[in-house]
Amino acid sequence: MRIGILNSGGDCPGLNAVIHGVVGAADQLGWEVIGFKDGFEGLLPPGDYTVLKPKDTIGIVKLGGTILGTTNKGNFAAKIGKGNLAEVPAEIVAKAKRTLDQLEIRALVIVGGDGSLTTALQLYREGWPIIGVPKTIDNDLQATAMTFGFDSAVSTVVDGLDRLHTTAESHKRVMVLEVMGRHAGWIALWGGIAGGANVILLPEIEFSTEKVAEVIRERDAQGHHSTLVVVAEGAKLPDGELVTINQNDGGEVRLGGIGDIVARRIETLTGKETRACTLGHLQRGGAPTALDRILGTRFGVMATKLAEEGRFGRMVSYQAYHVDSVPIEEAVNKLRTVEPDSEMVEAARAIGISLGD
Ligand code: F6P
Repeated sequence: MRIGILNSGGDCPGLNAVIHGVVGAADQLGWEVIGFKDGFEGLLPPGDYTVLKPKDTIGIVKLGGTILGTTNKGNFAAKIGKGNLAEVPAEIVAKAKRTLDQLEIRALVIVGGDGSLTTALQLYREGWPIIGVPKTIDNDLQATAMTFGFDSAVSTVVDGLDRLHTTAESHKRVMVLEVMGRHAGWIALWGGIAGGANVILLPEIEFSTEKVAEVIRERDAQGHHSTLVVVAEGAKLPDGELVTINQNDGGEVRLGGIGDIVARRIETLTGKETRACTLGHLQRGGAPTALDRILGTRFGVMATKLAEEGRFGRMVSYQAYHVDSVPIEEAVNKLRTVEPDSEMVEAARAIGISLGD
């Protein structure tokens, strides 16, 4: 038997661990694995793929990125503009299916986030033998407690904050760190708490820059002359505006720029020297953490098990320290965002972190 695997959407640390898990588990079953290049695009005729044997995956668990390549735009993008849904055109689906049939692929493992799994669901509904694996640093997929890649992104934020802390203190400055996460505040919240931020601004909680300025003035009065502010790229300005860079050709709009705006407003309101720093793709690159290596490996093994059992249309899911699976439709089309009154937000408030509200 032969199965296929592809990565789709933005890359993230842990993708190679999934590939390693699938190839290792499939080899035990005597199966061959075909890795499609650059996401779904690798399915288009004549097909861009490579046969993956255990020897090809030696040492890849520790590597960031993906040995198969990926893309978050192109012919199969399910999310365009500000998150609008798009169907993959019938002729593209038909062409890709031909490749799958010619190669006699009996199961196709799609490792992706919300957009890619939306495409995966469309293909499953059109009769493809699909198995999904949840990937994204944003951690915003429903039906799984965690996606792999998130922990690595959070640890990059923590490292960034540790570094900003010392320079902020030396100069008695306010430092604003803009982090990724799209419309969900998970990276900002986890990274901010673990990295000792004083203010965390999330897409899920309306904030006022005047309130942030007040917190900074109070801290000054108490003798804390530096302040660390973490702002999620998807946080909305007090007038409700989302700060975007430009249209991602054939994909979703790119978020970014709120850090600079918040920093300028803080400086005007407080008179304190304020600097902004954007972590950007540093959060997506580099080696995965131990947790992401383990999660990725377990997800890959579970995906192969689902293929063995013929349980298609399902996505591997992590619940209560256990790896299981759910129907793909439970995971897509509605983002999992931070609940404003959740225990974690309350914990942040309890230790004196301001959410800017
Ligand atoms: O979805 C993952 C993510 O890293 C988001 O956090 C971010 O907004 C986006 O992808 C960046 O995409 P690109 O790599 O196209 O700039």
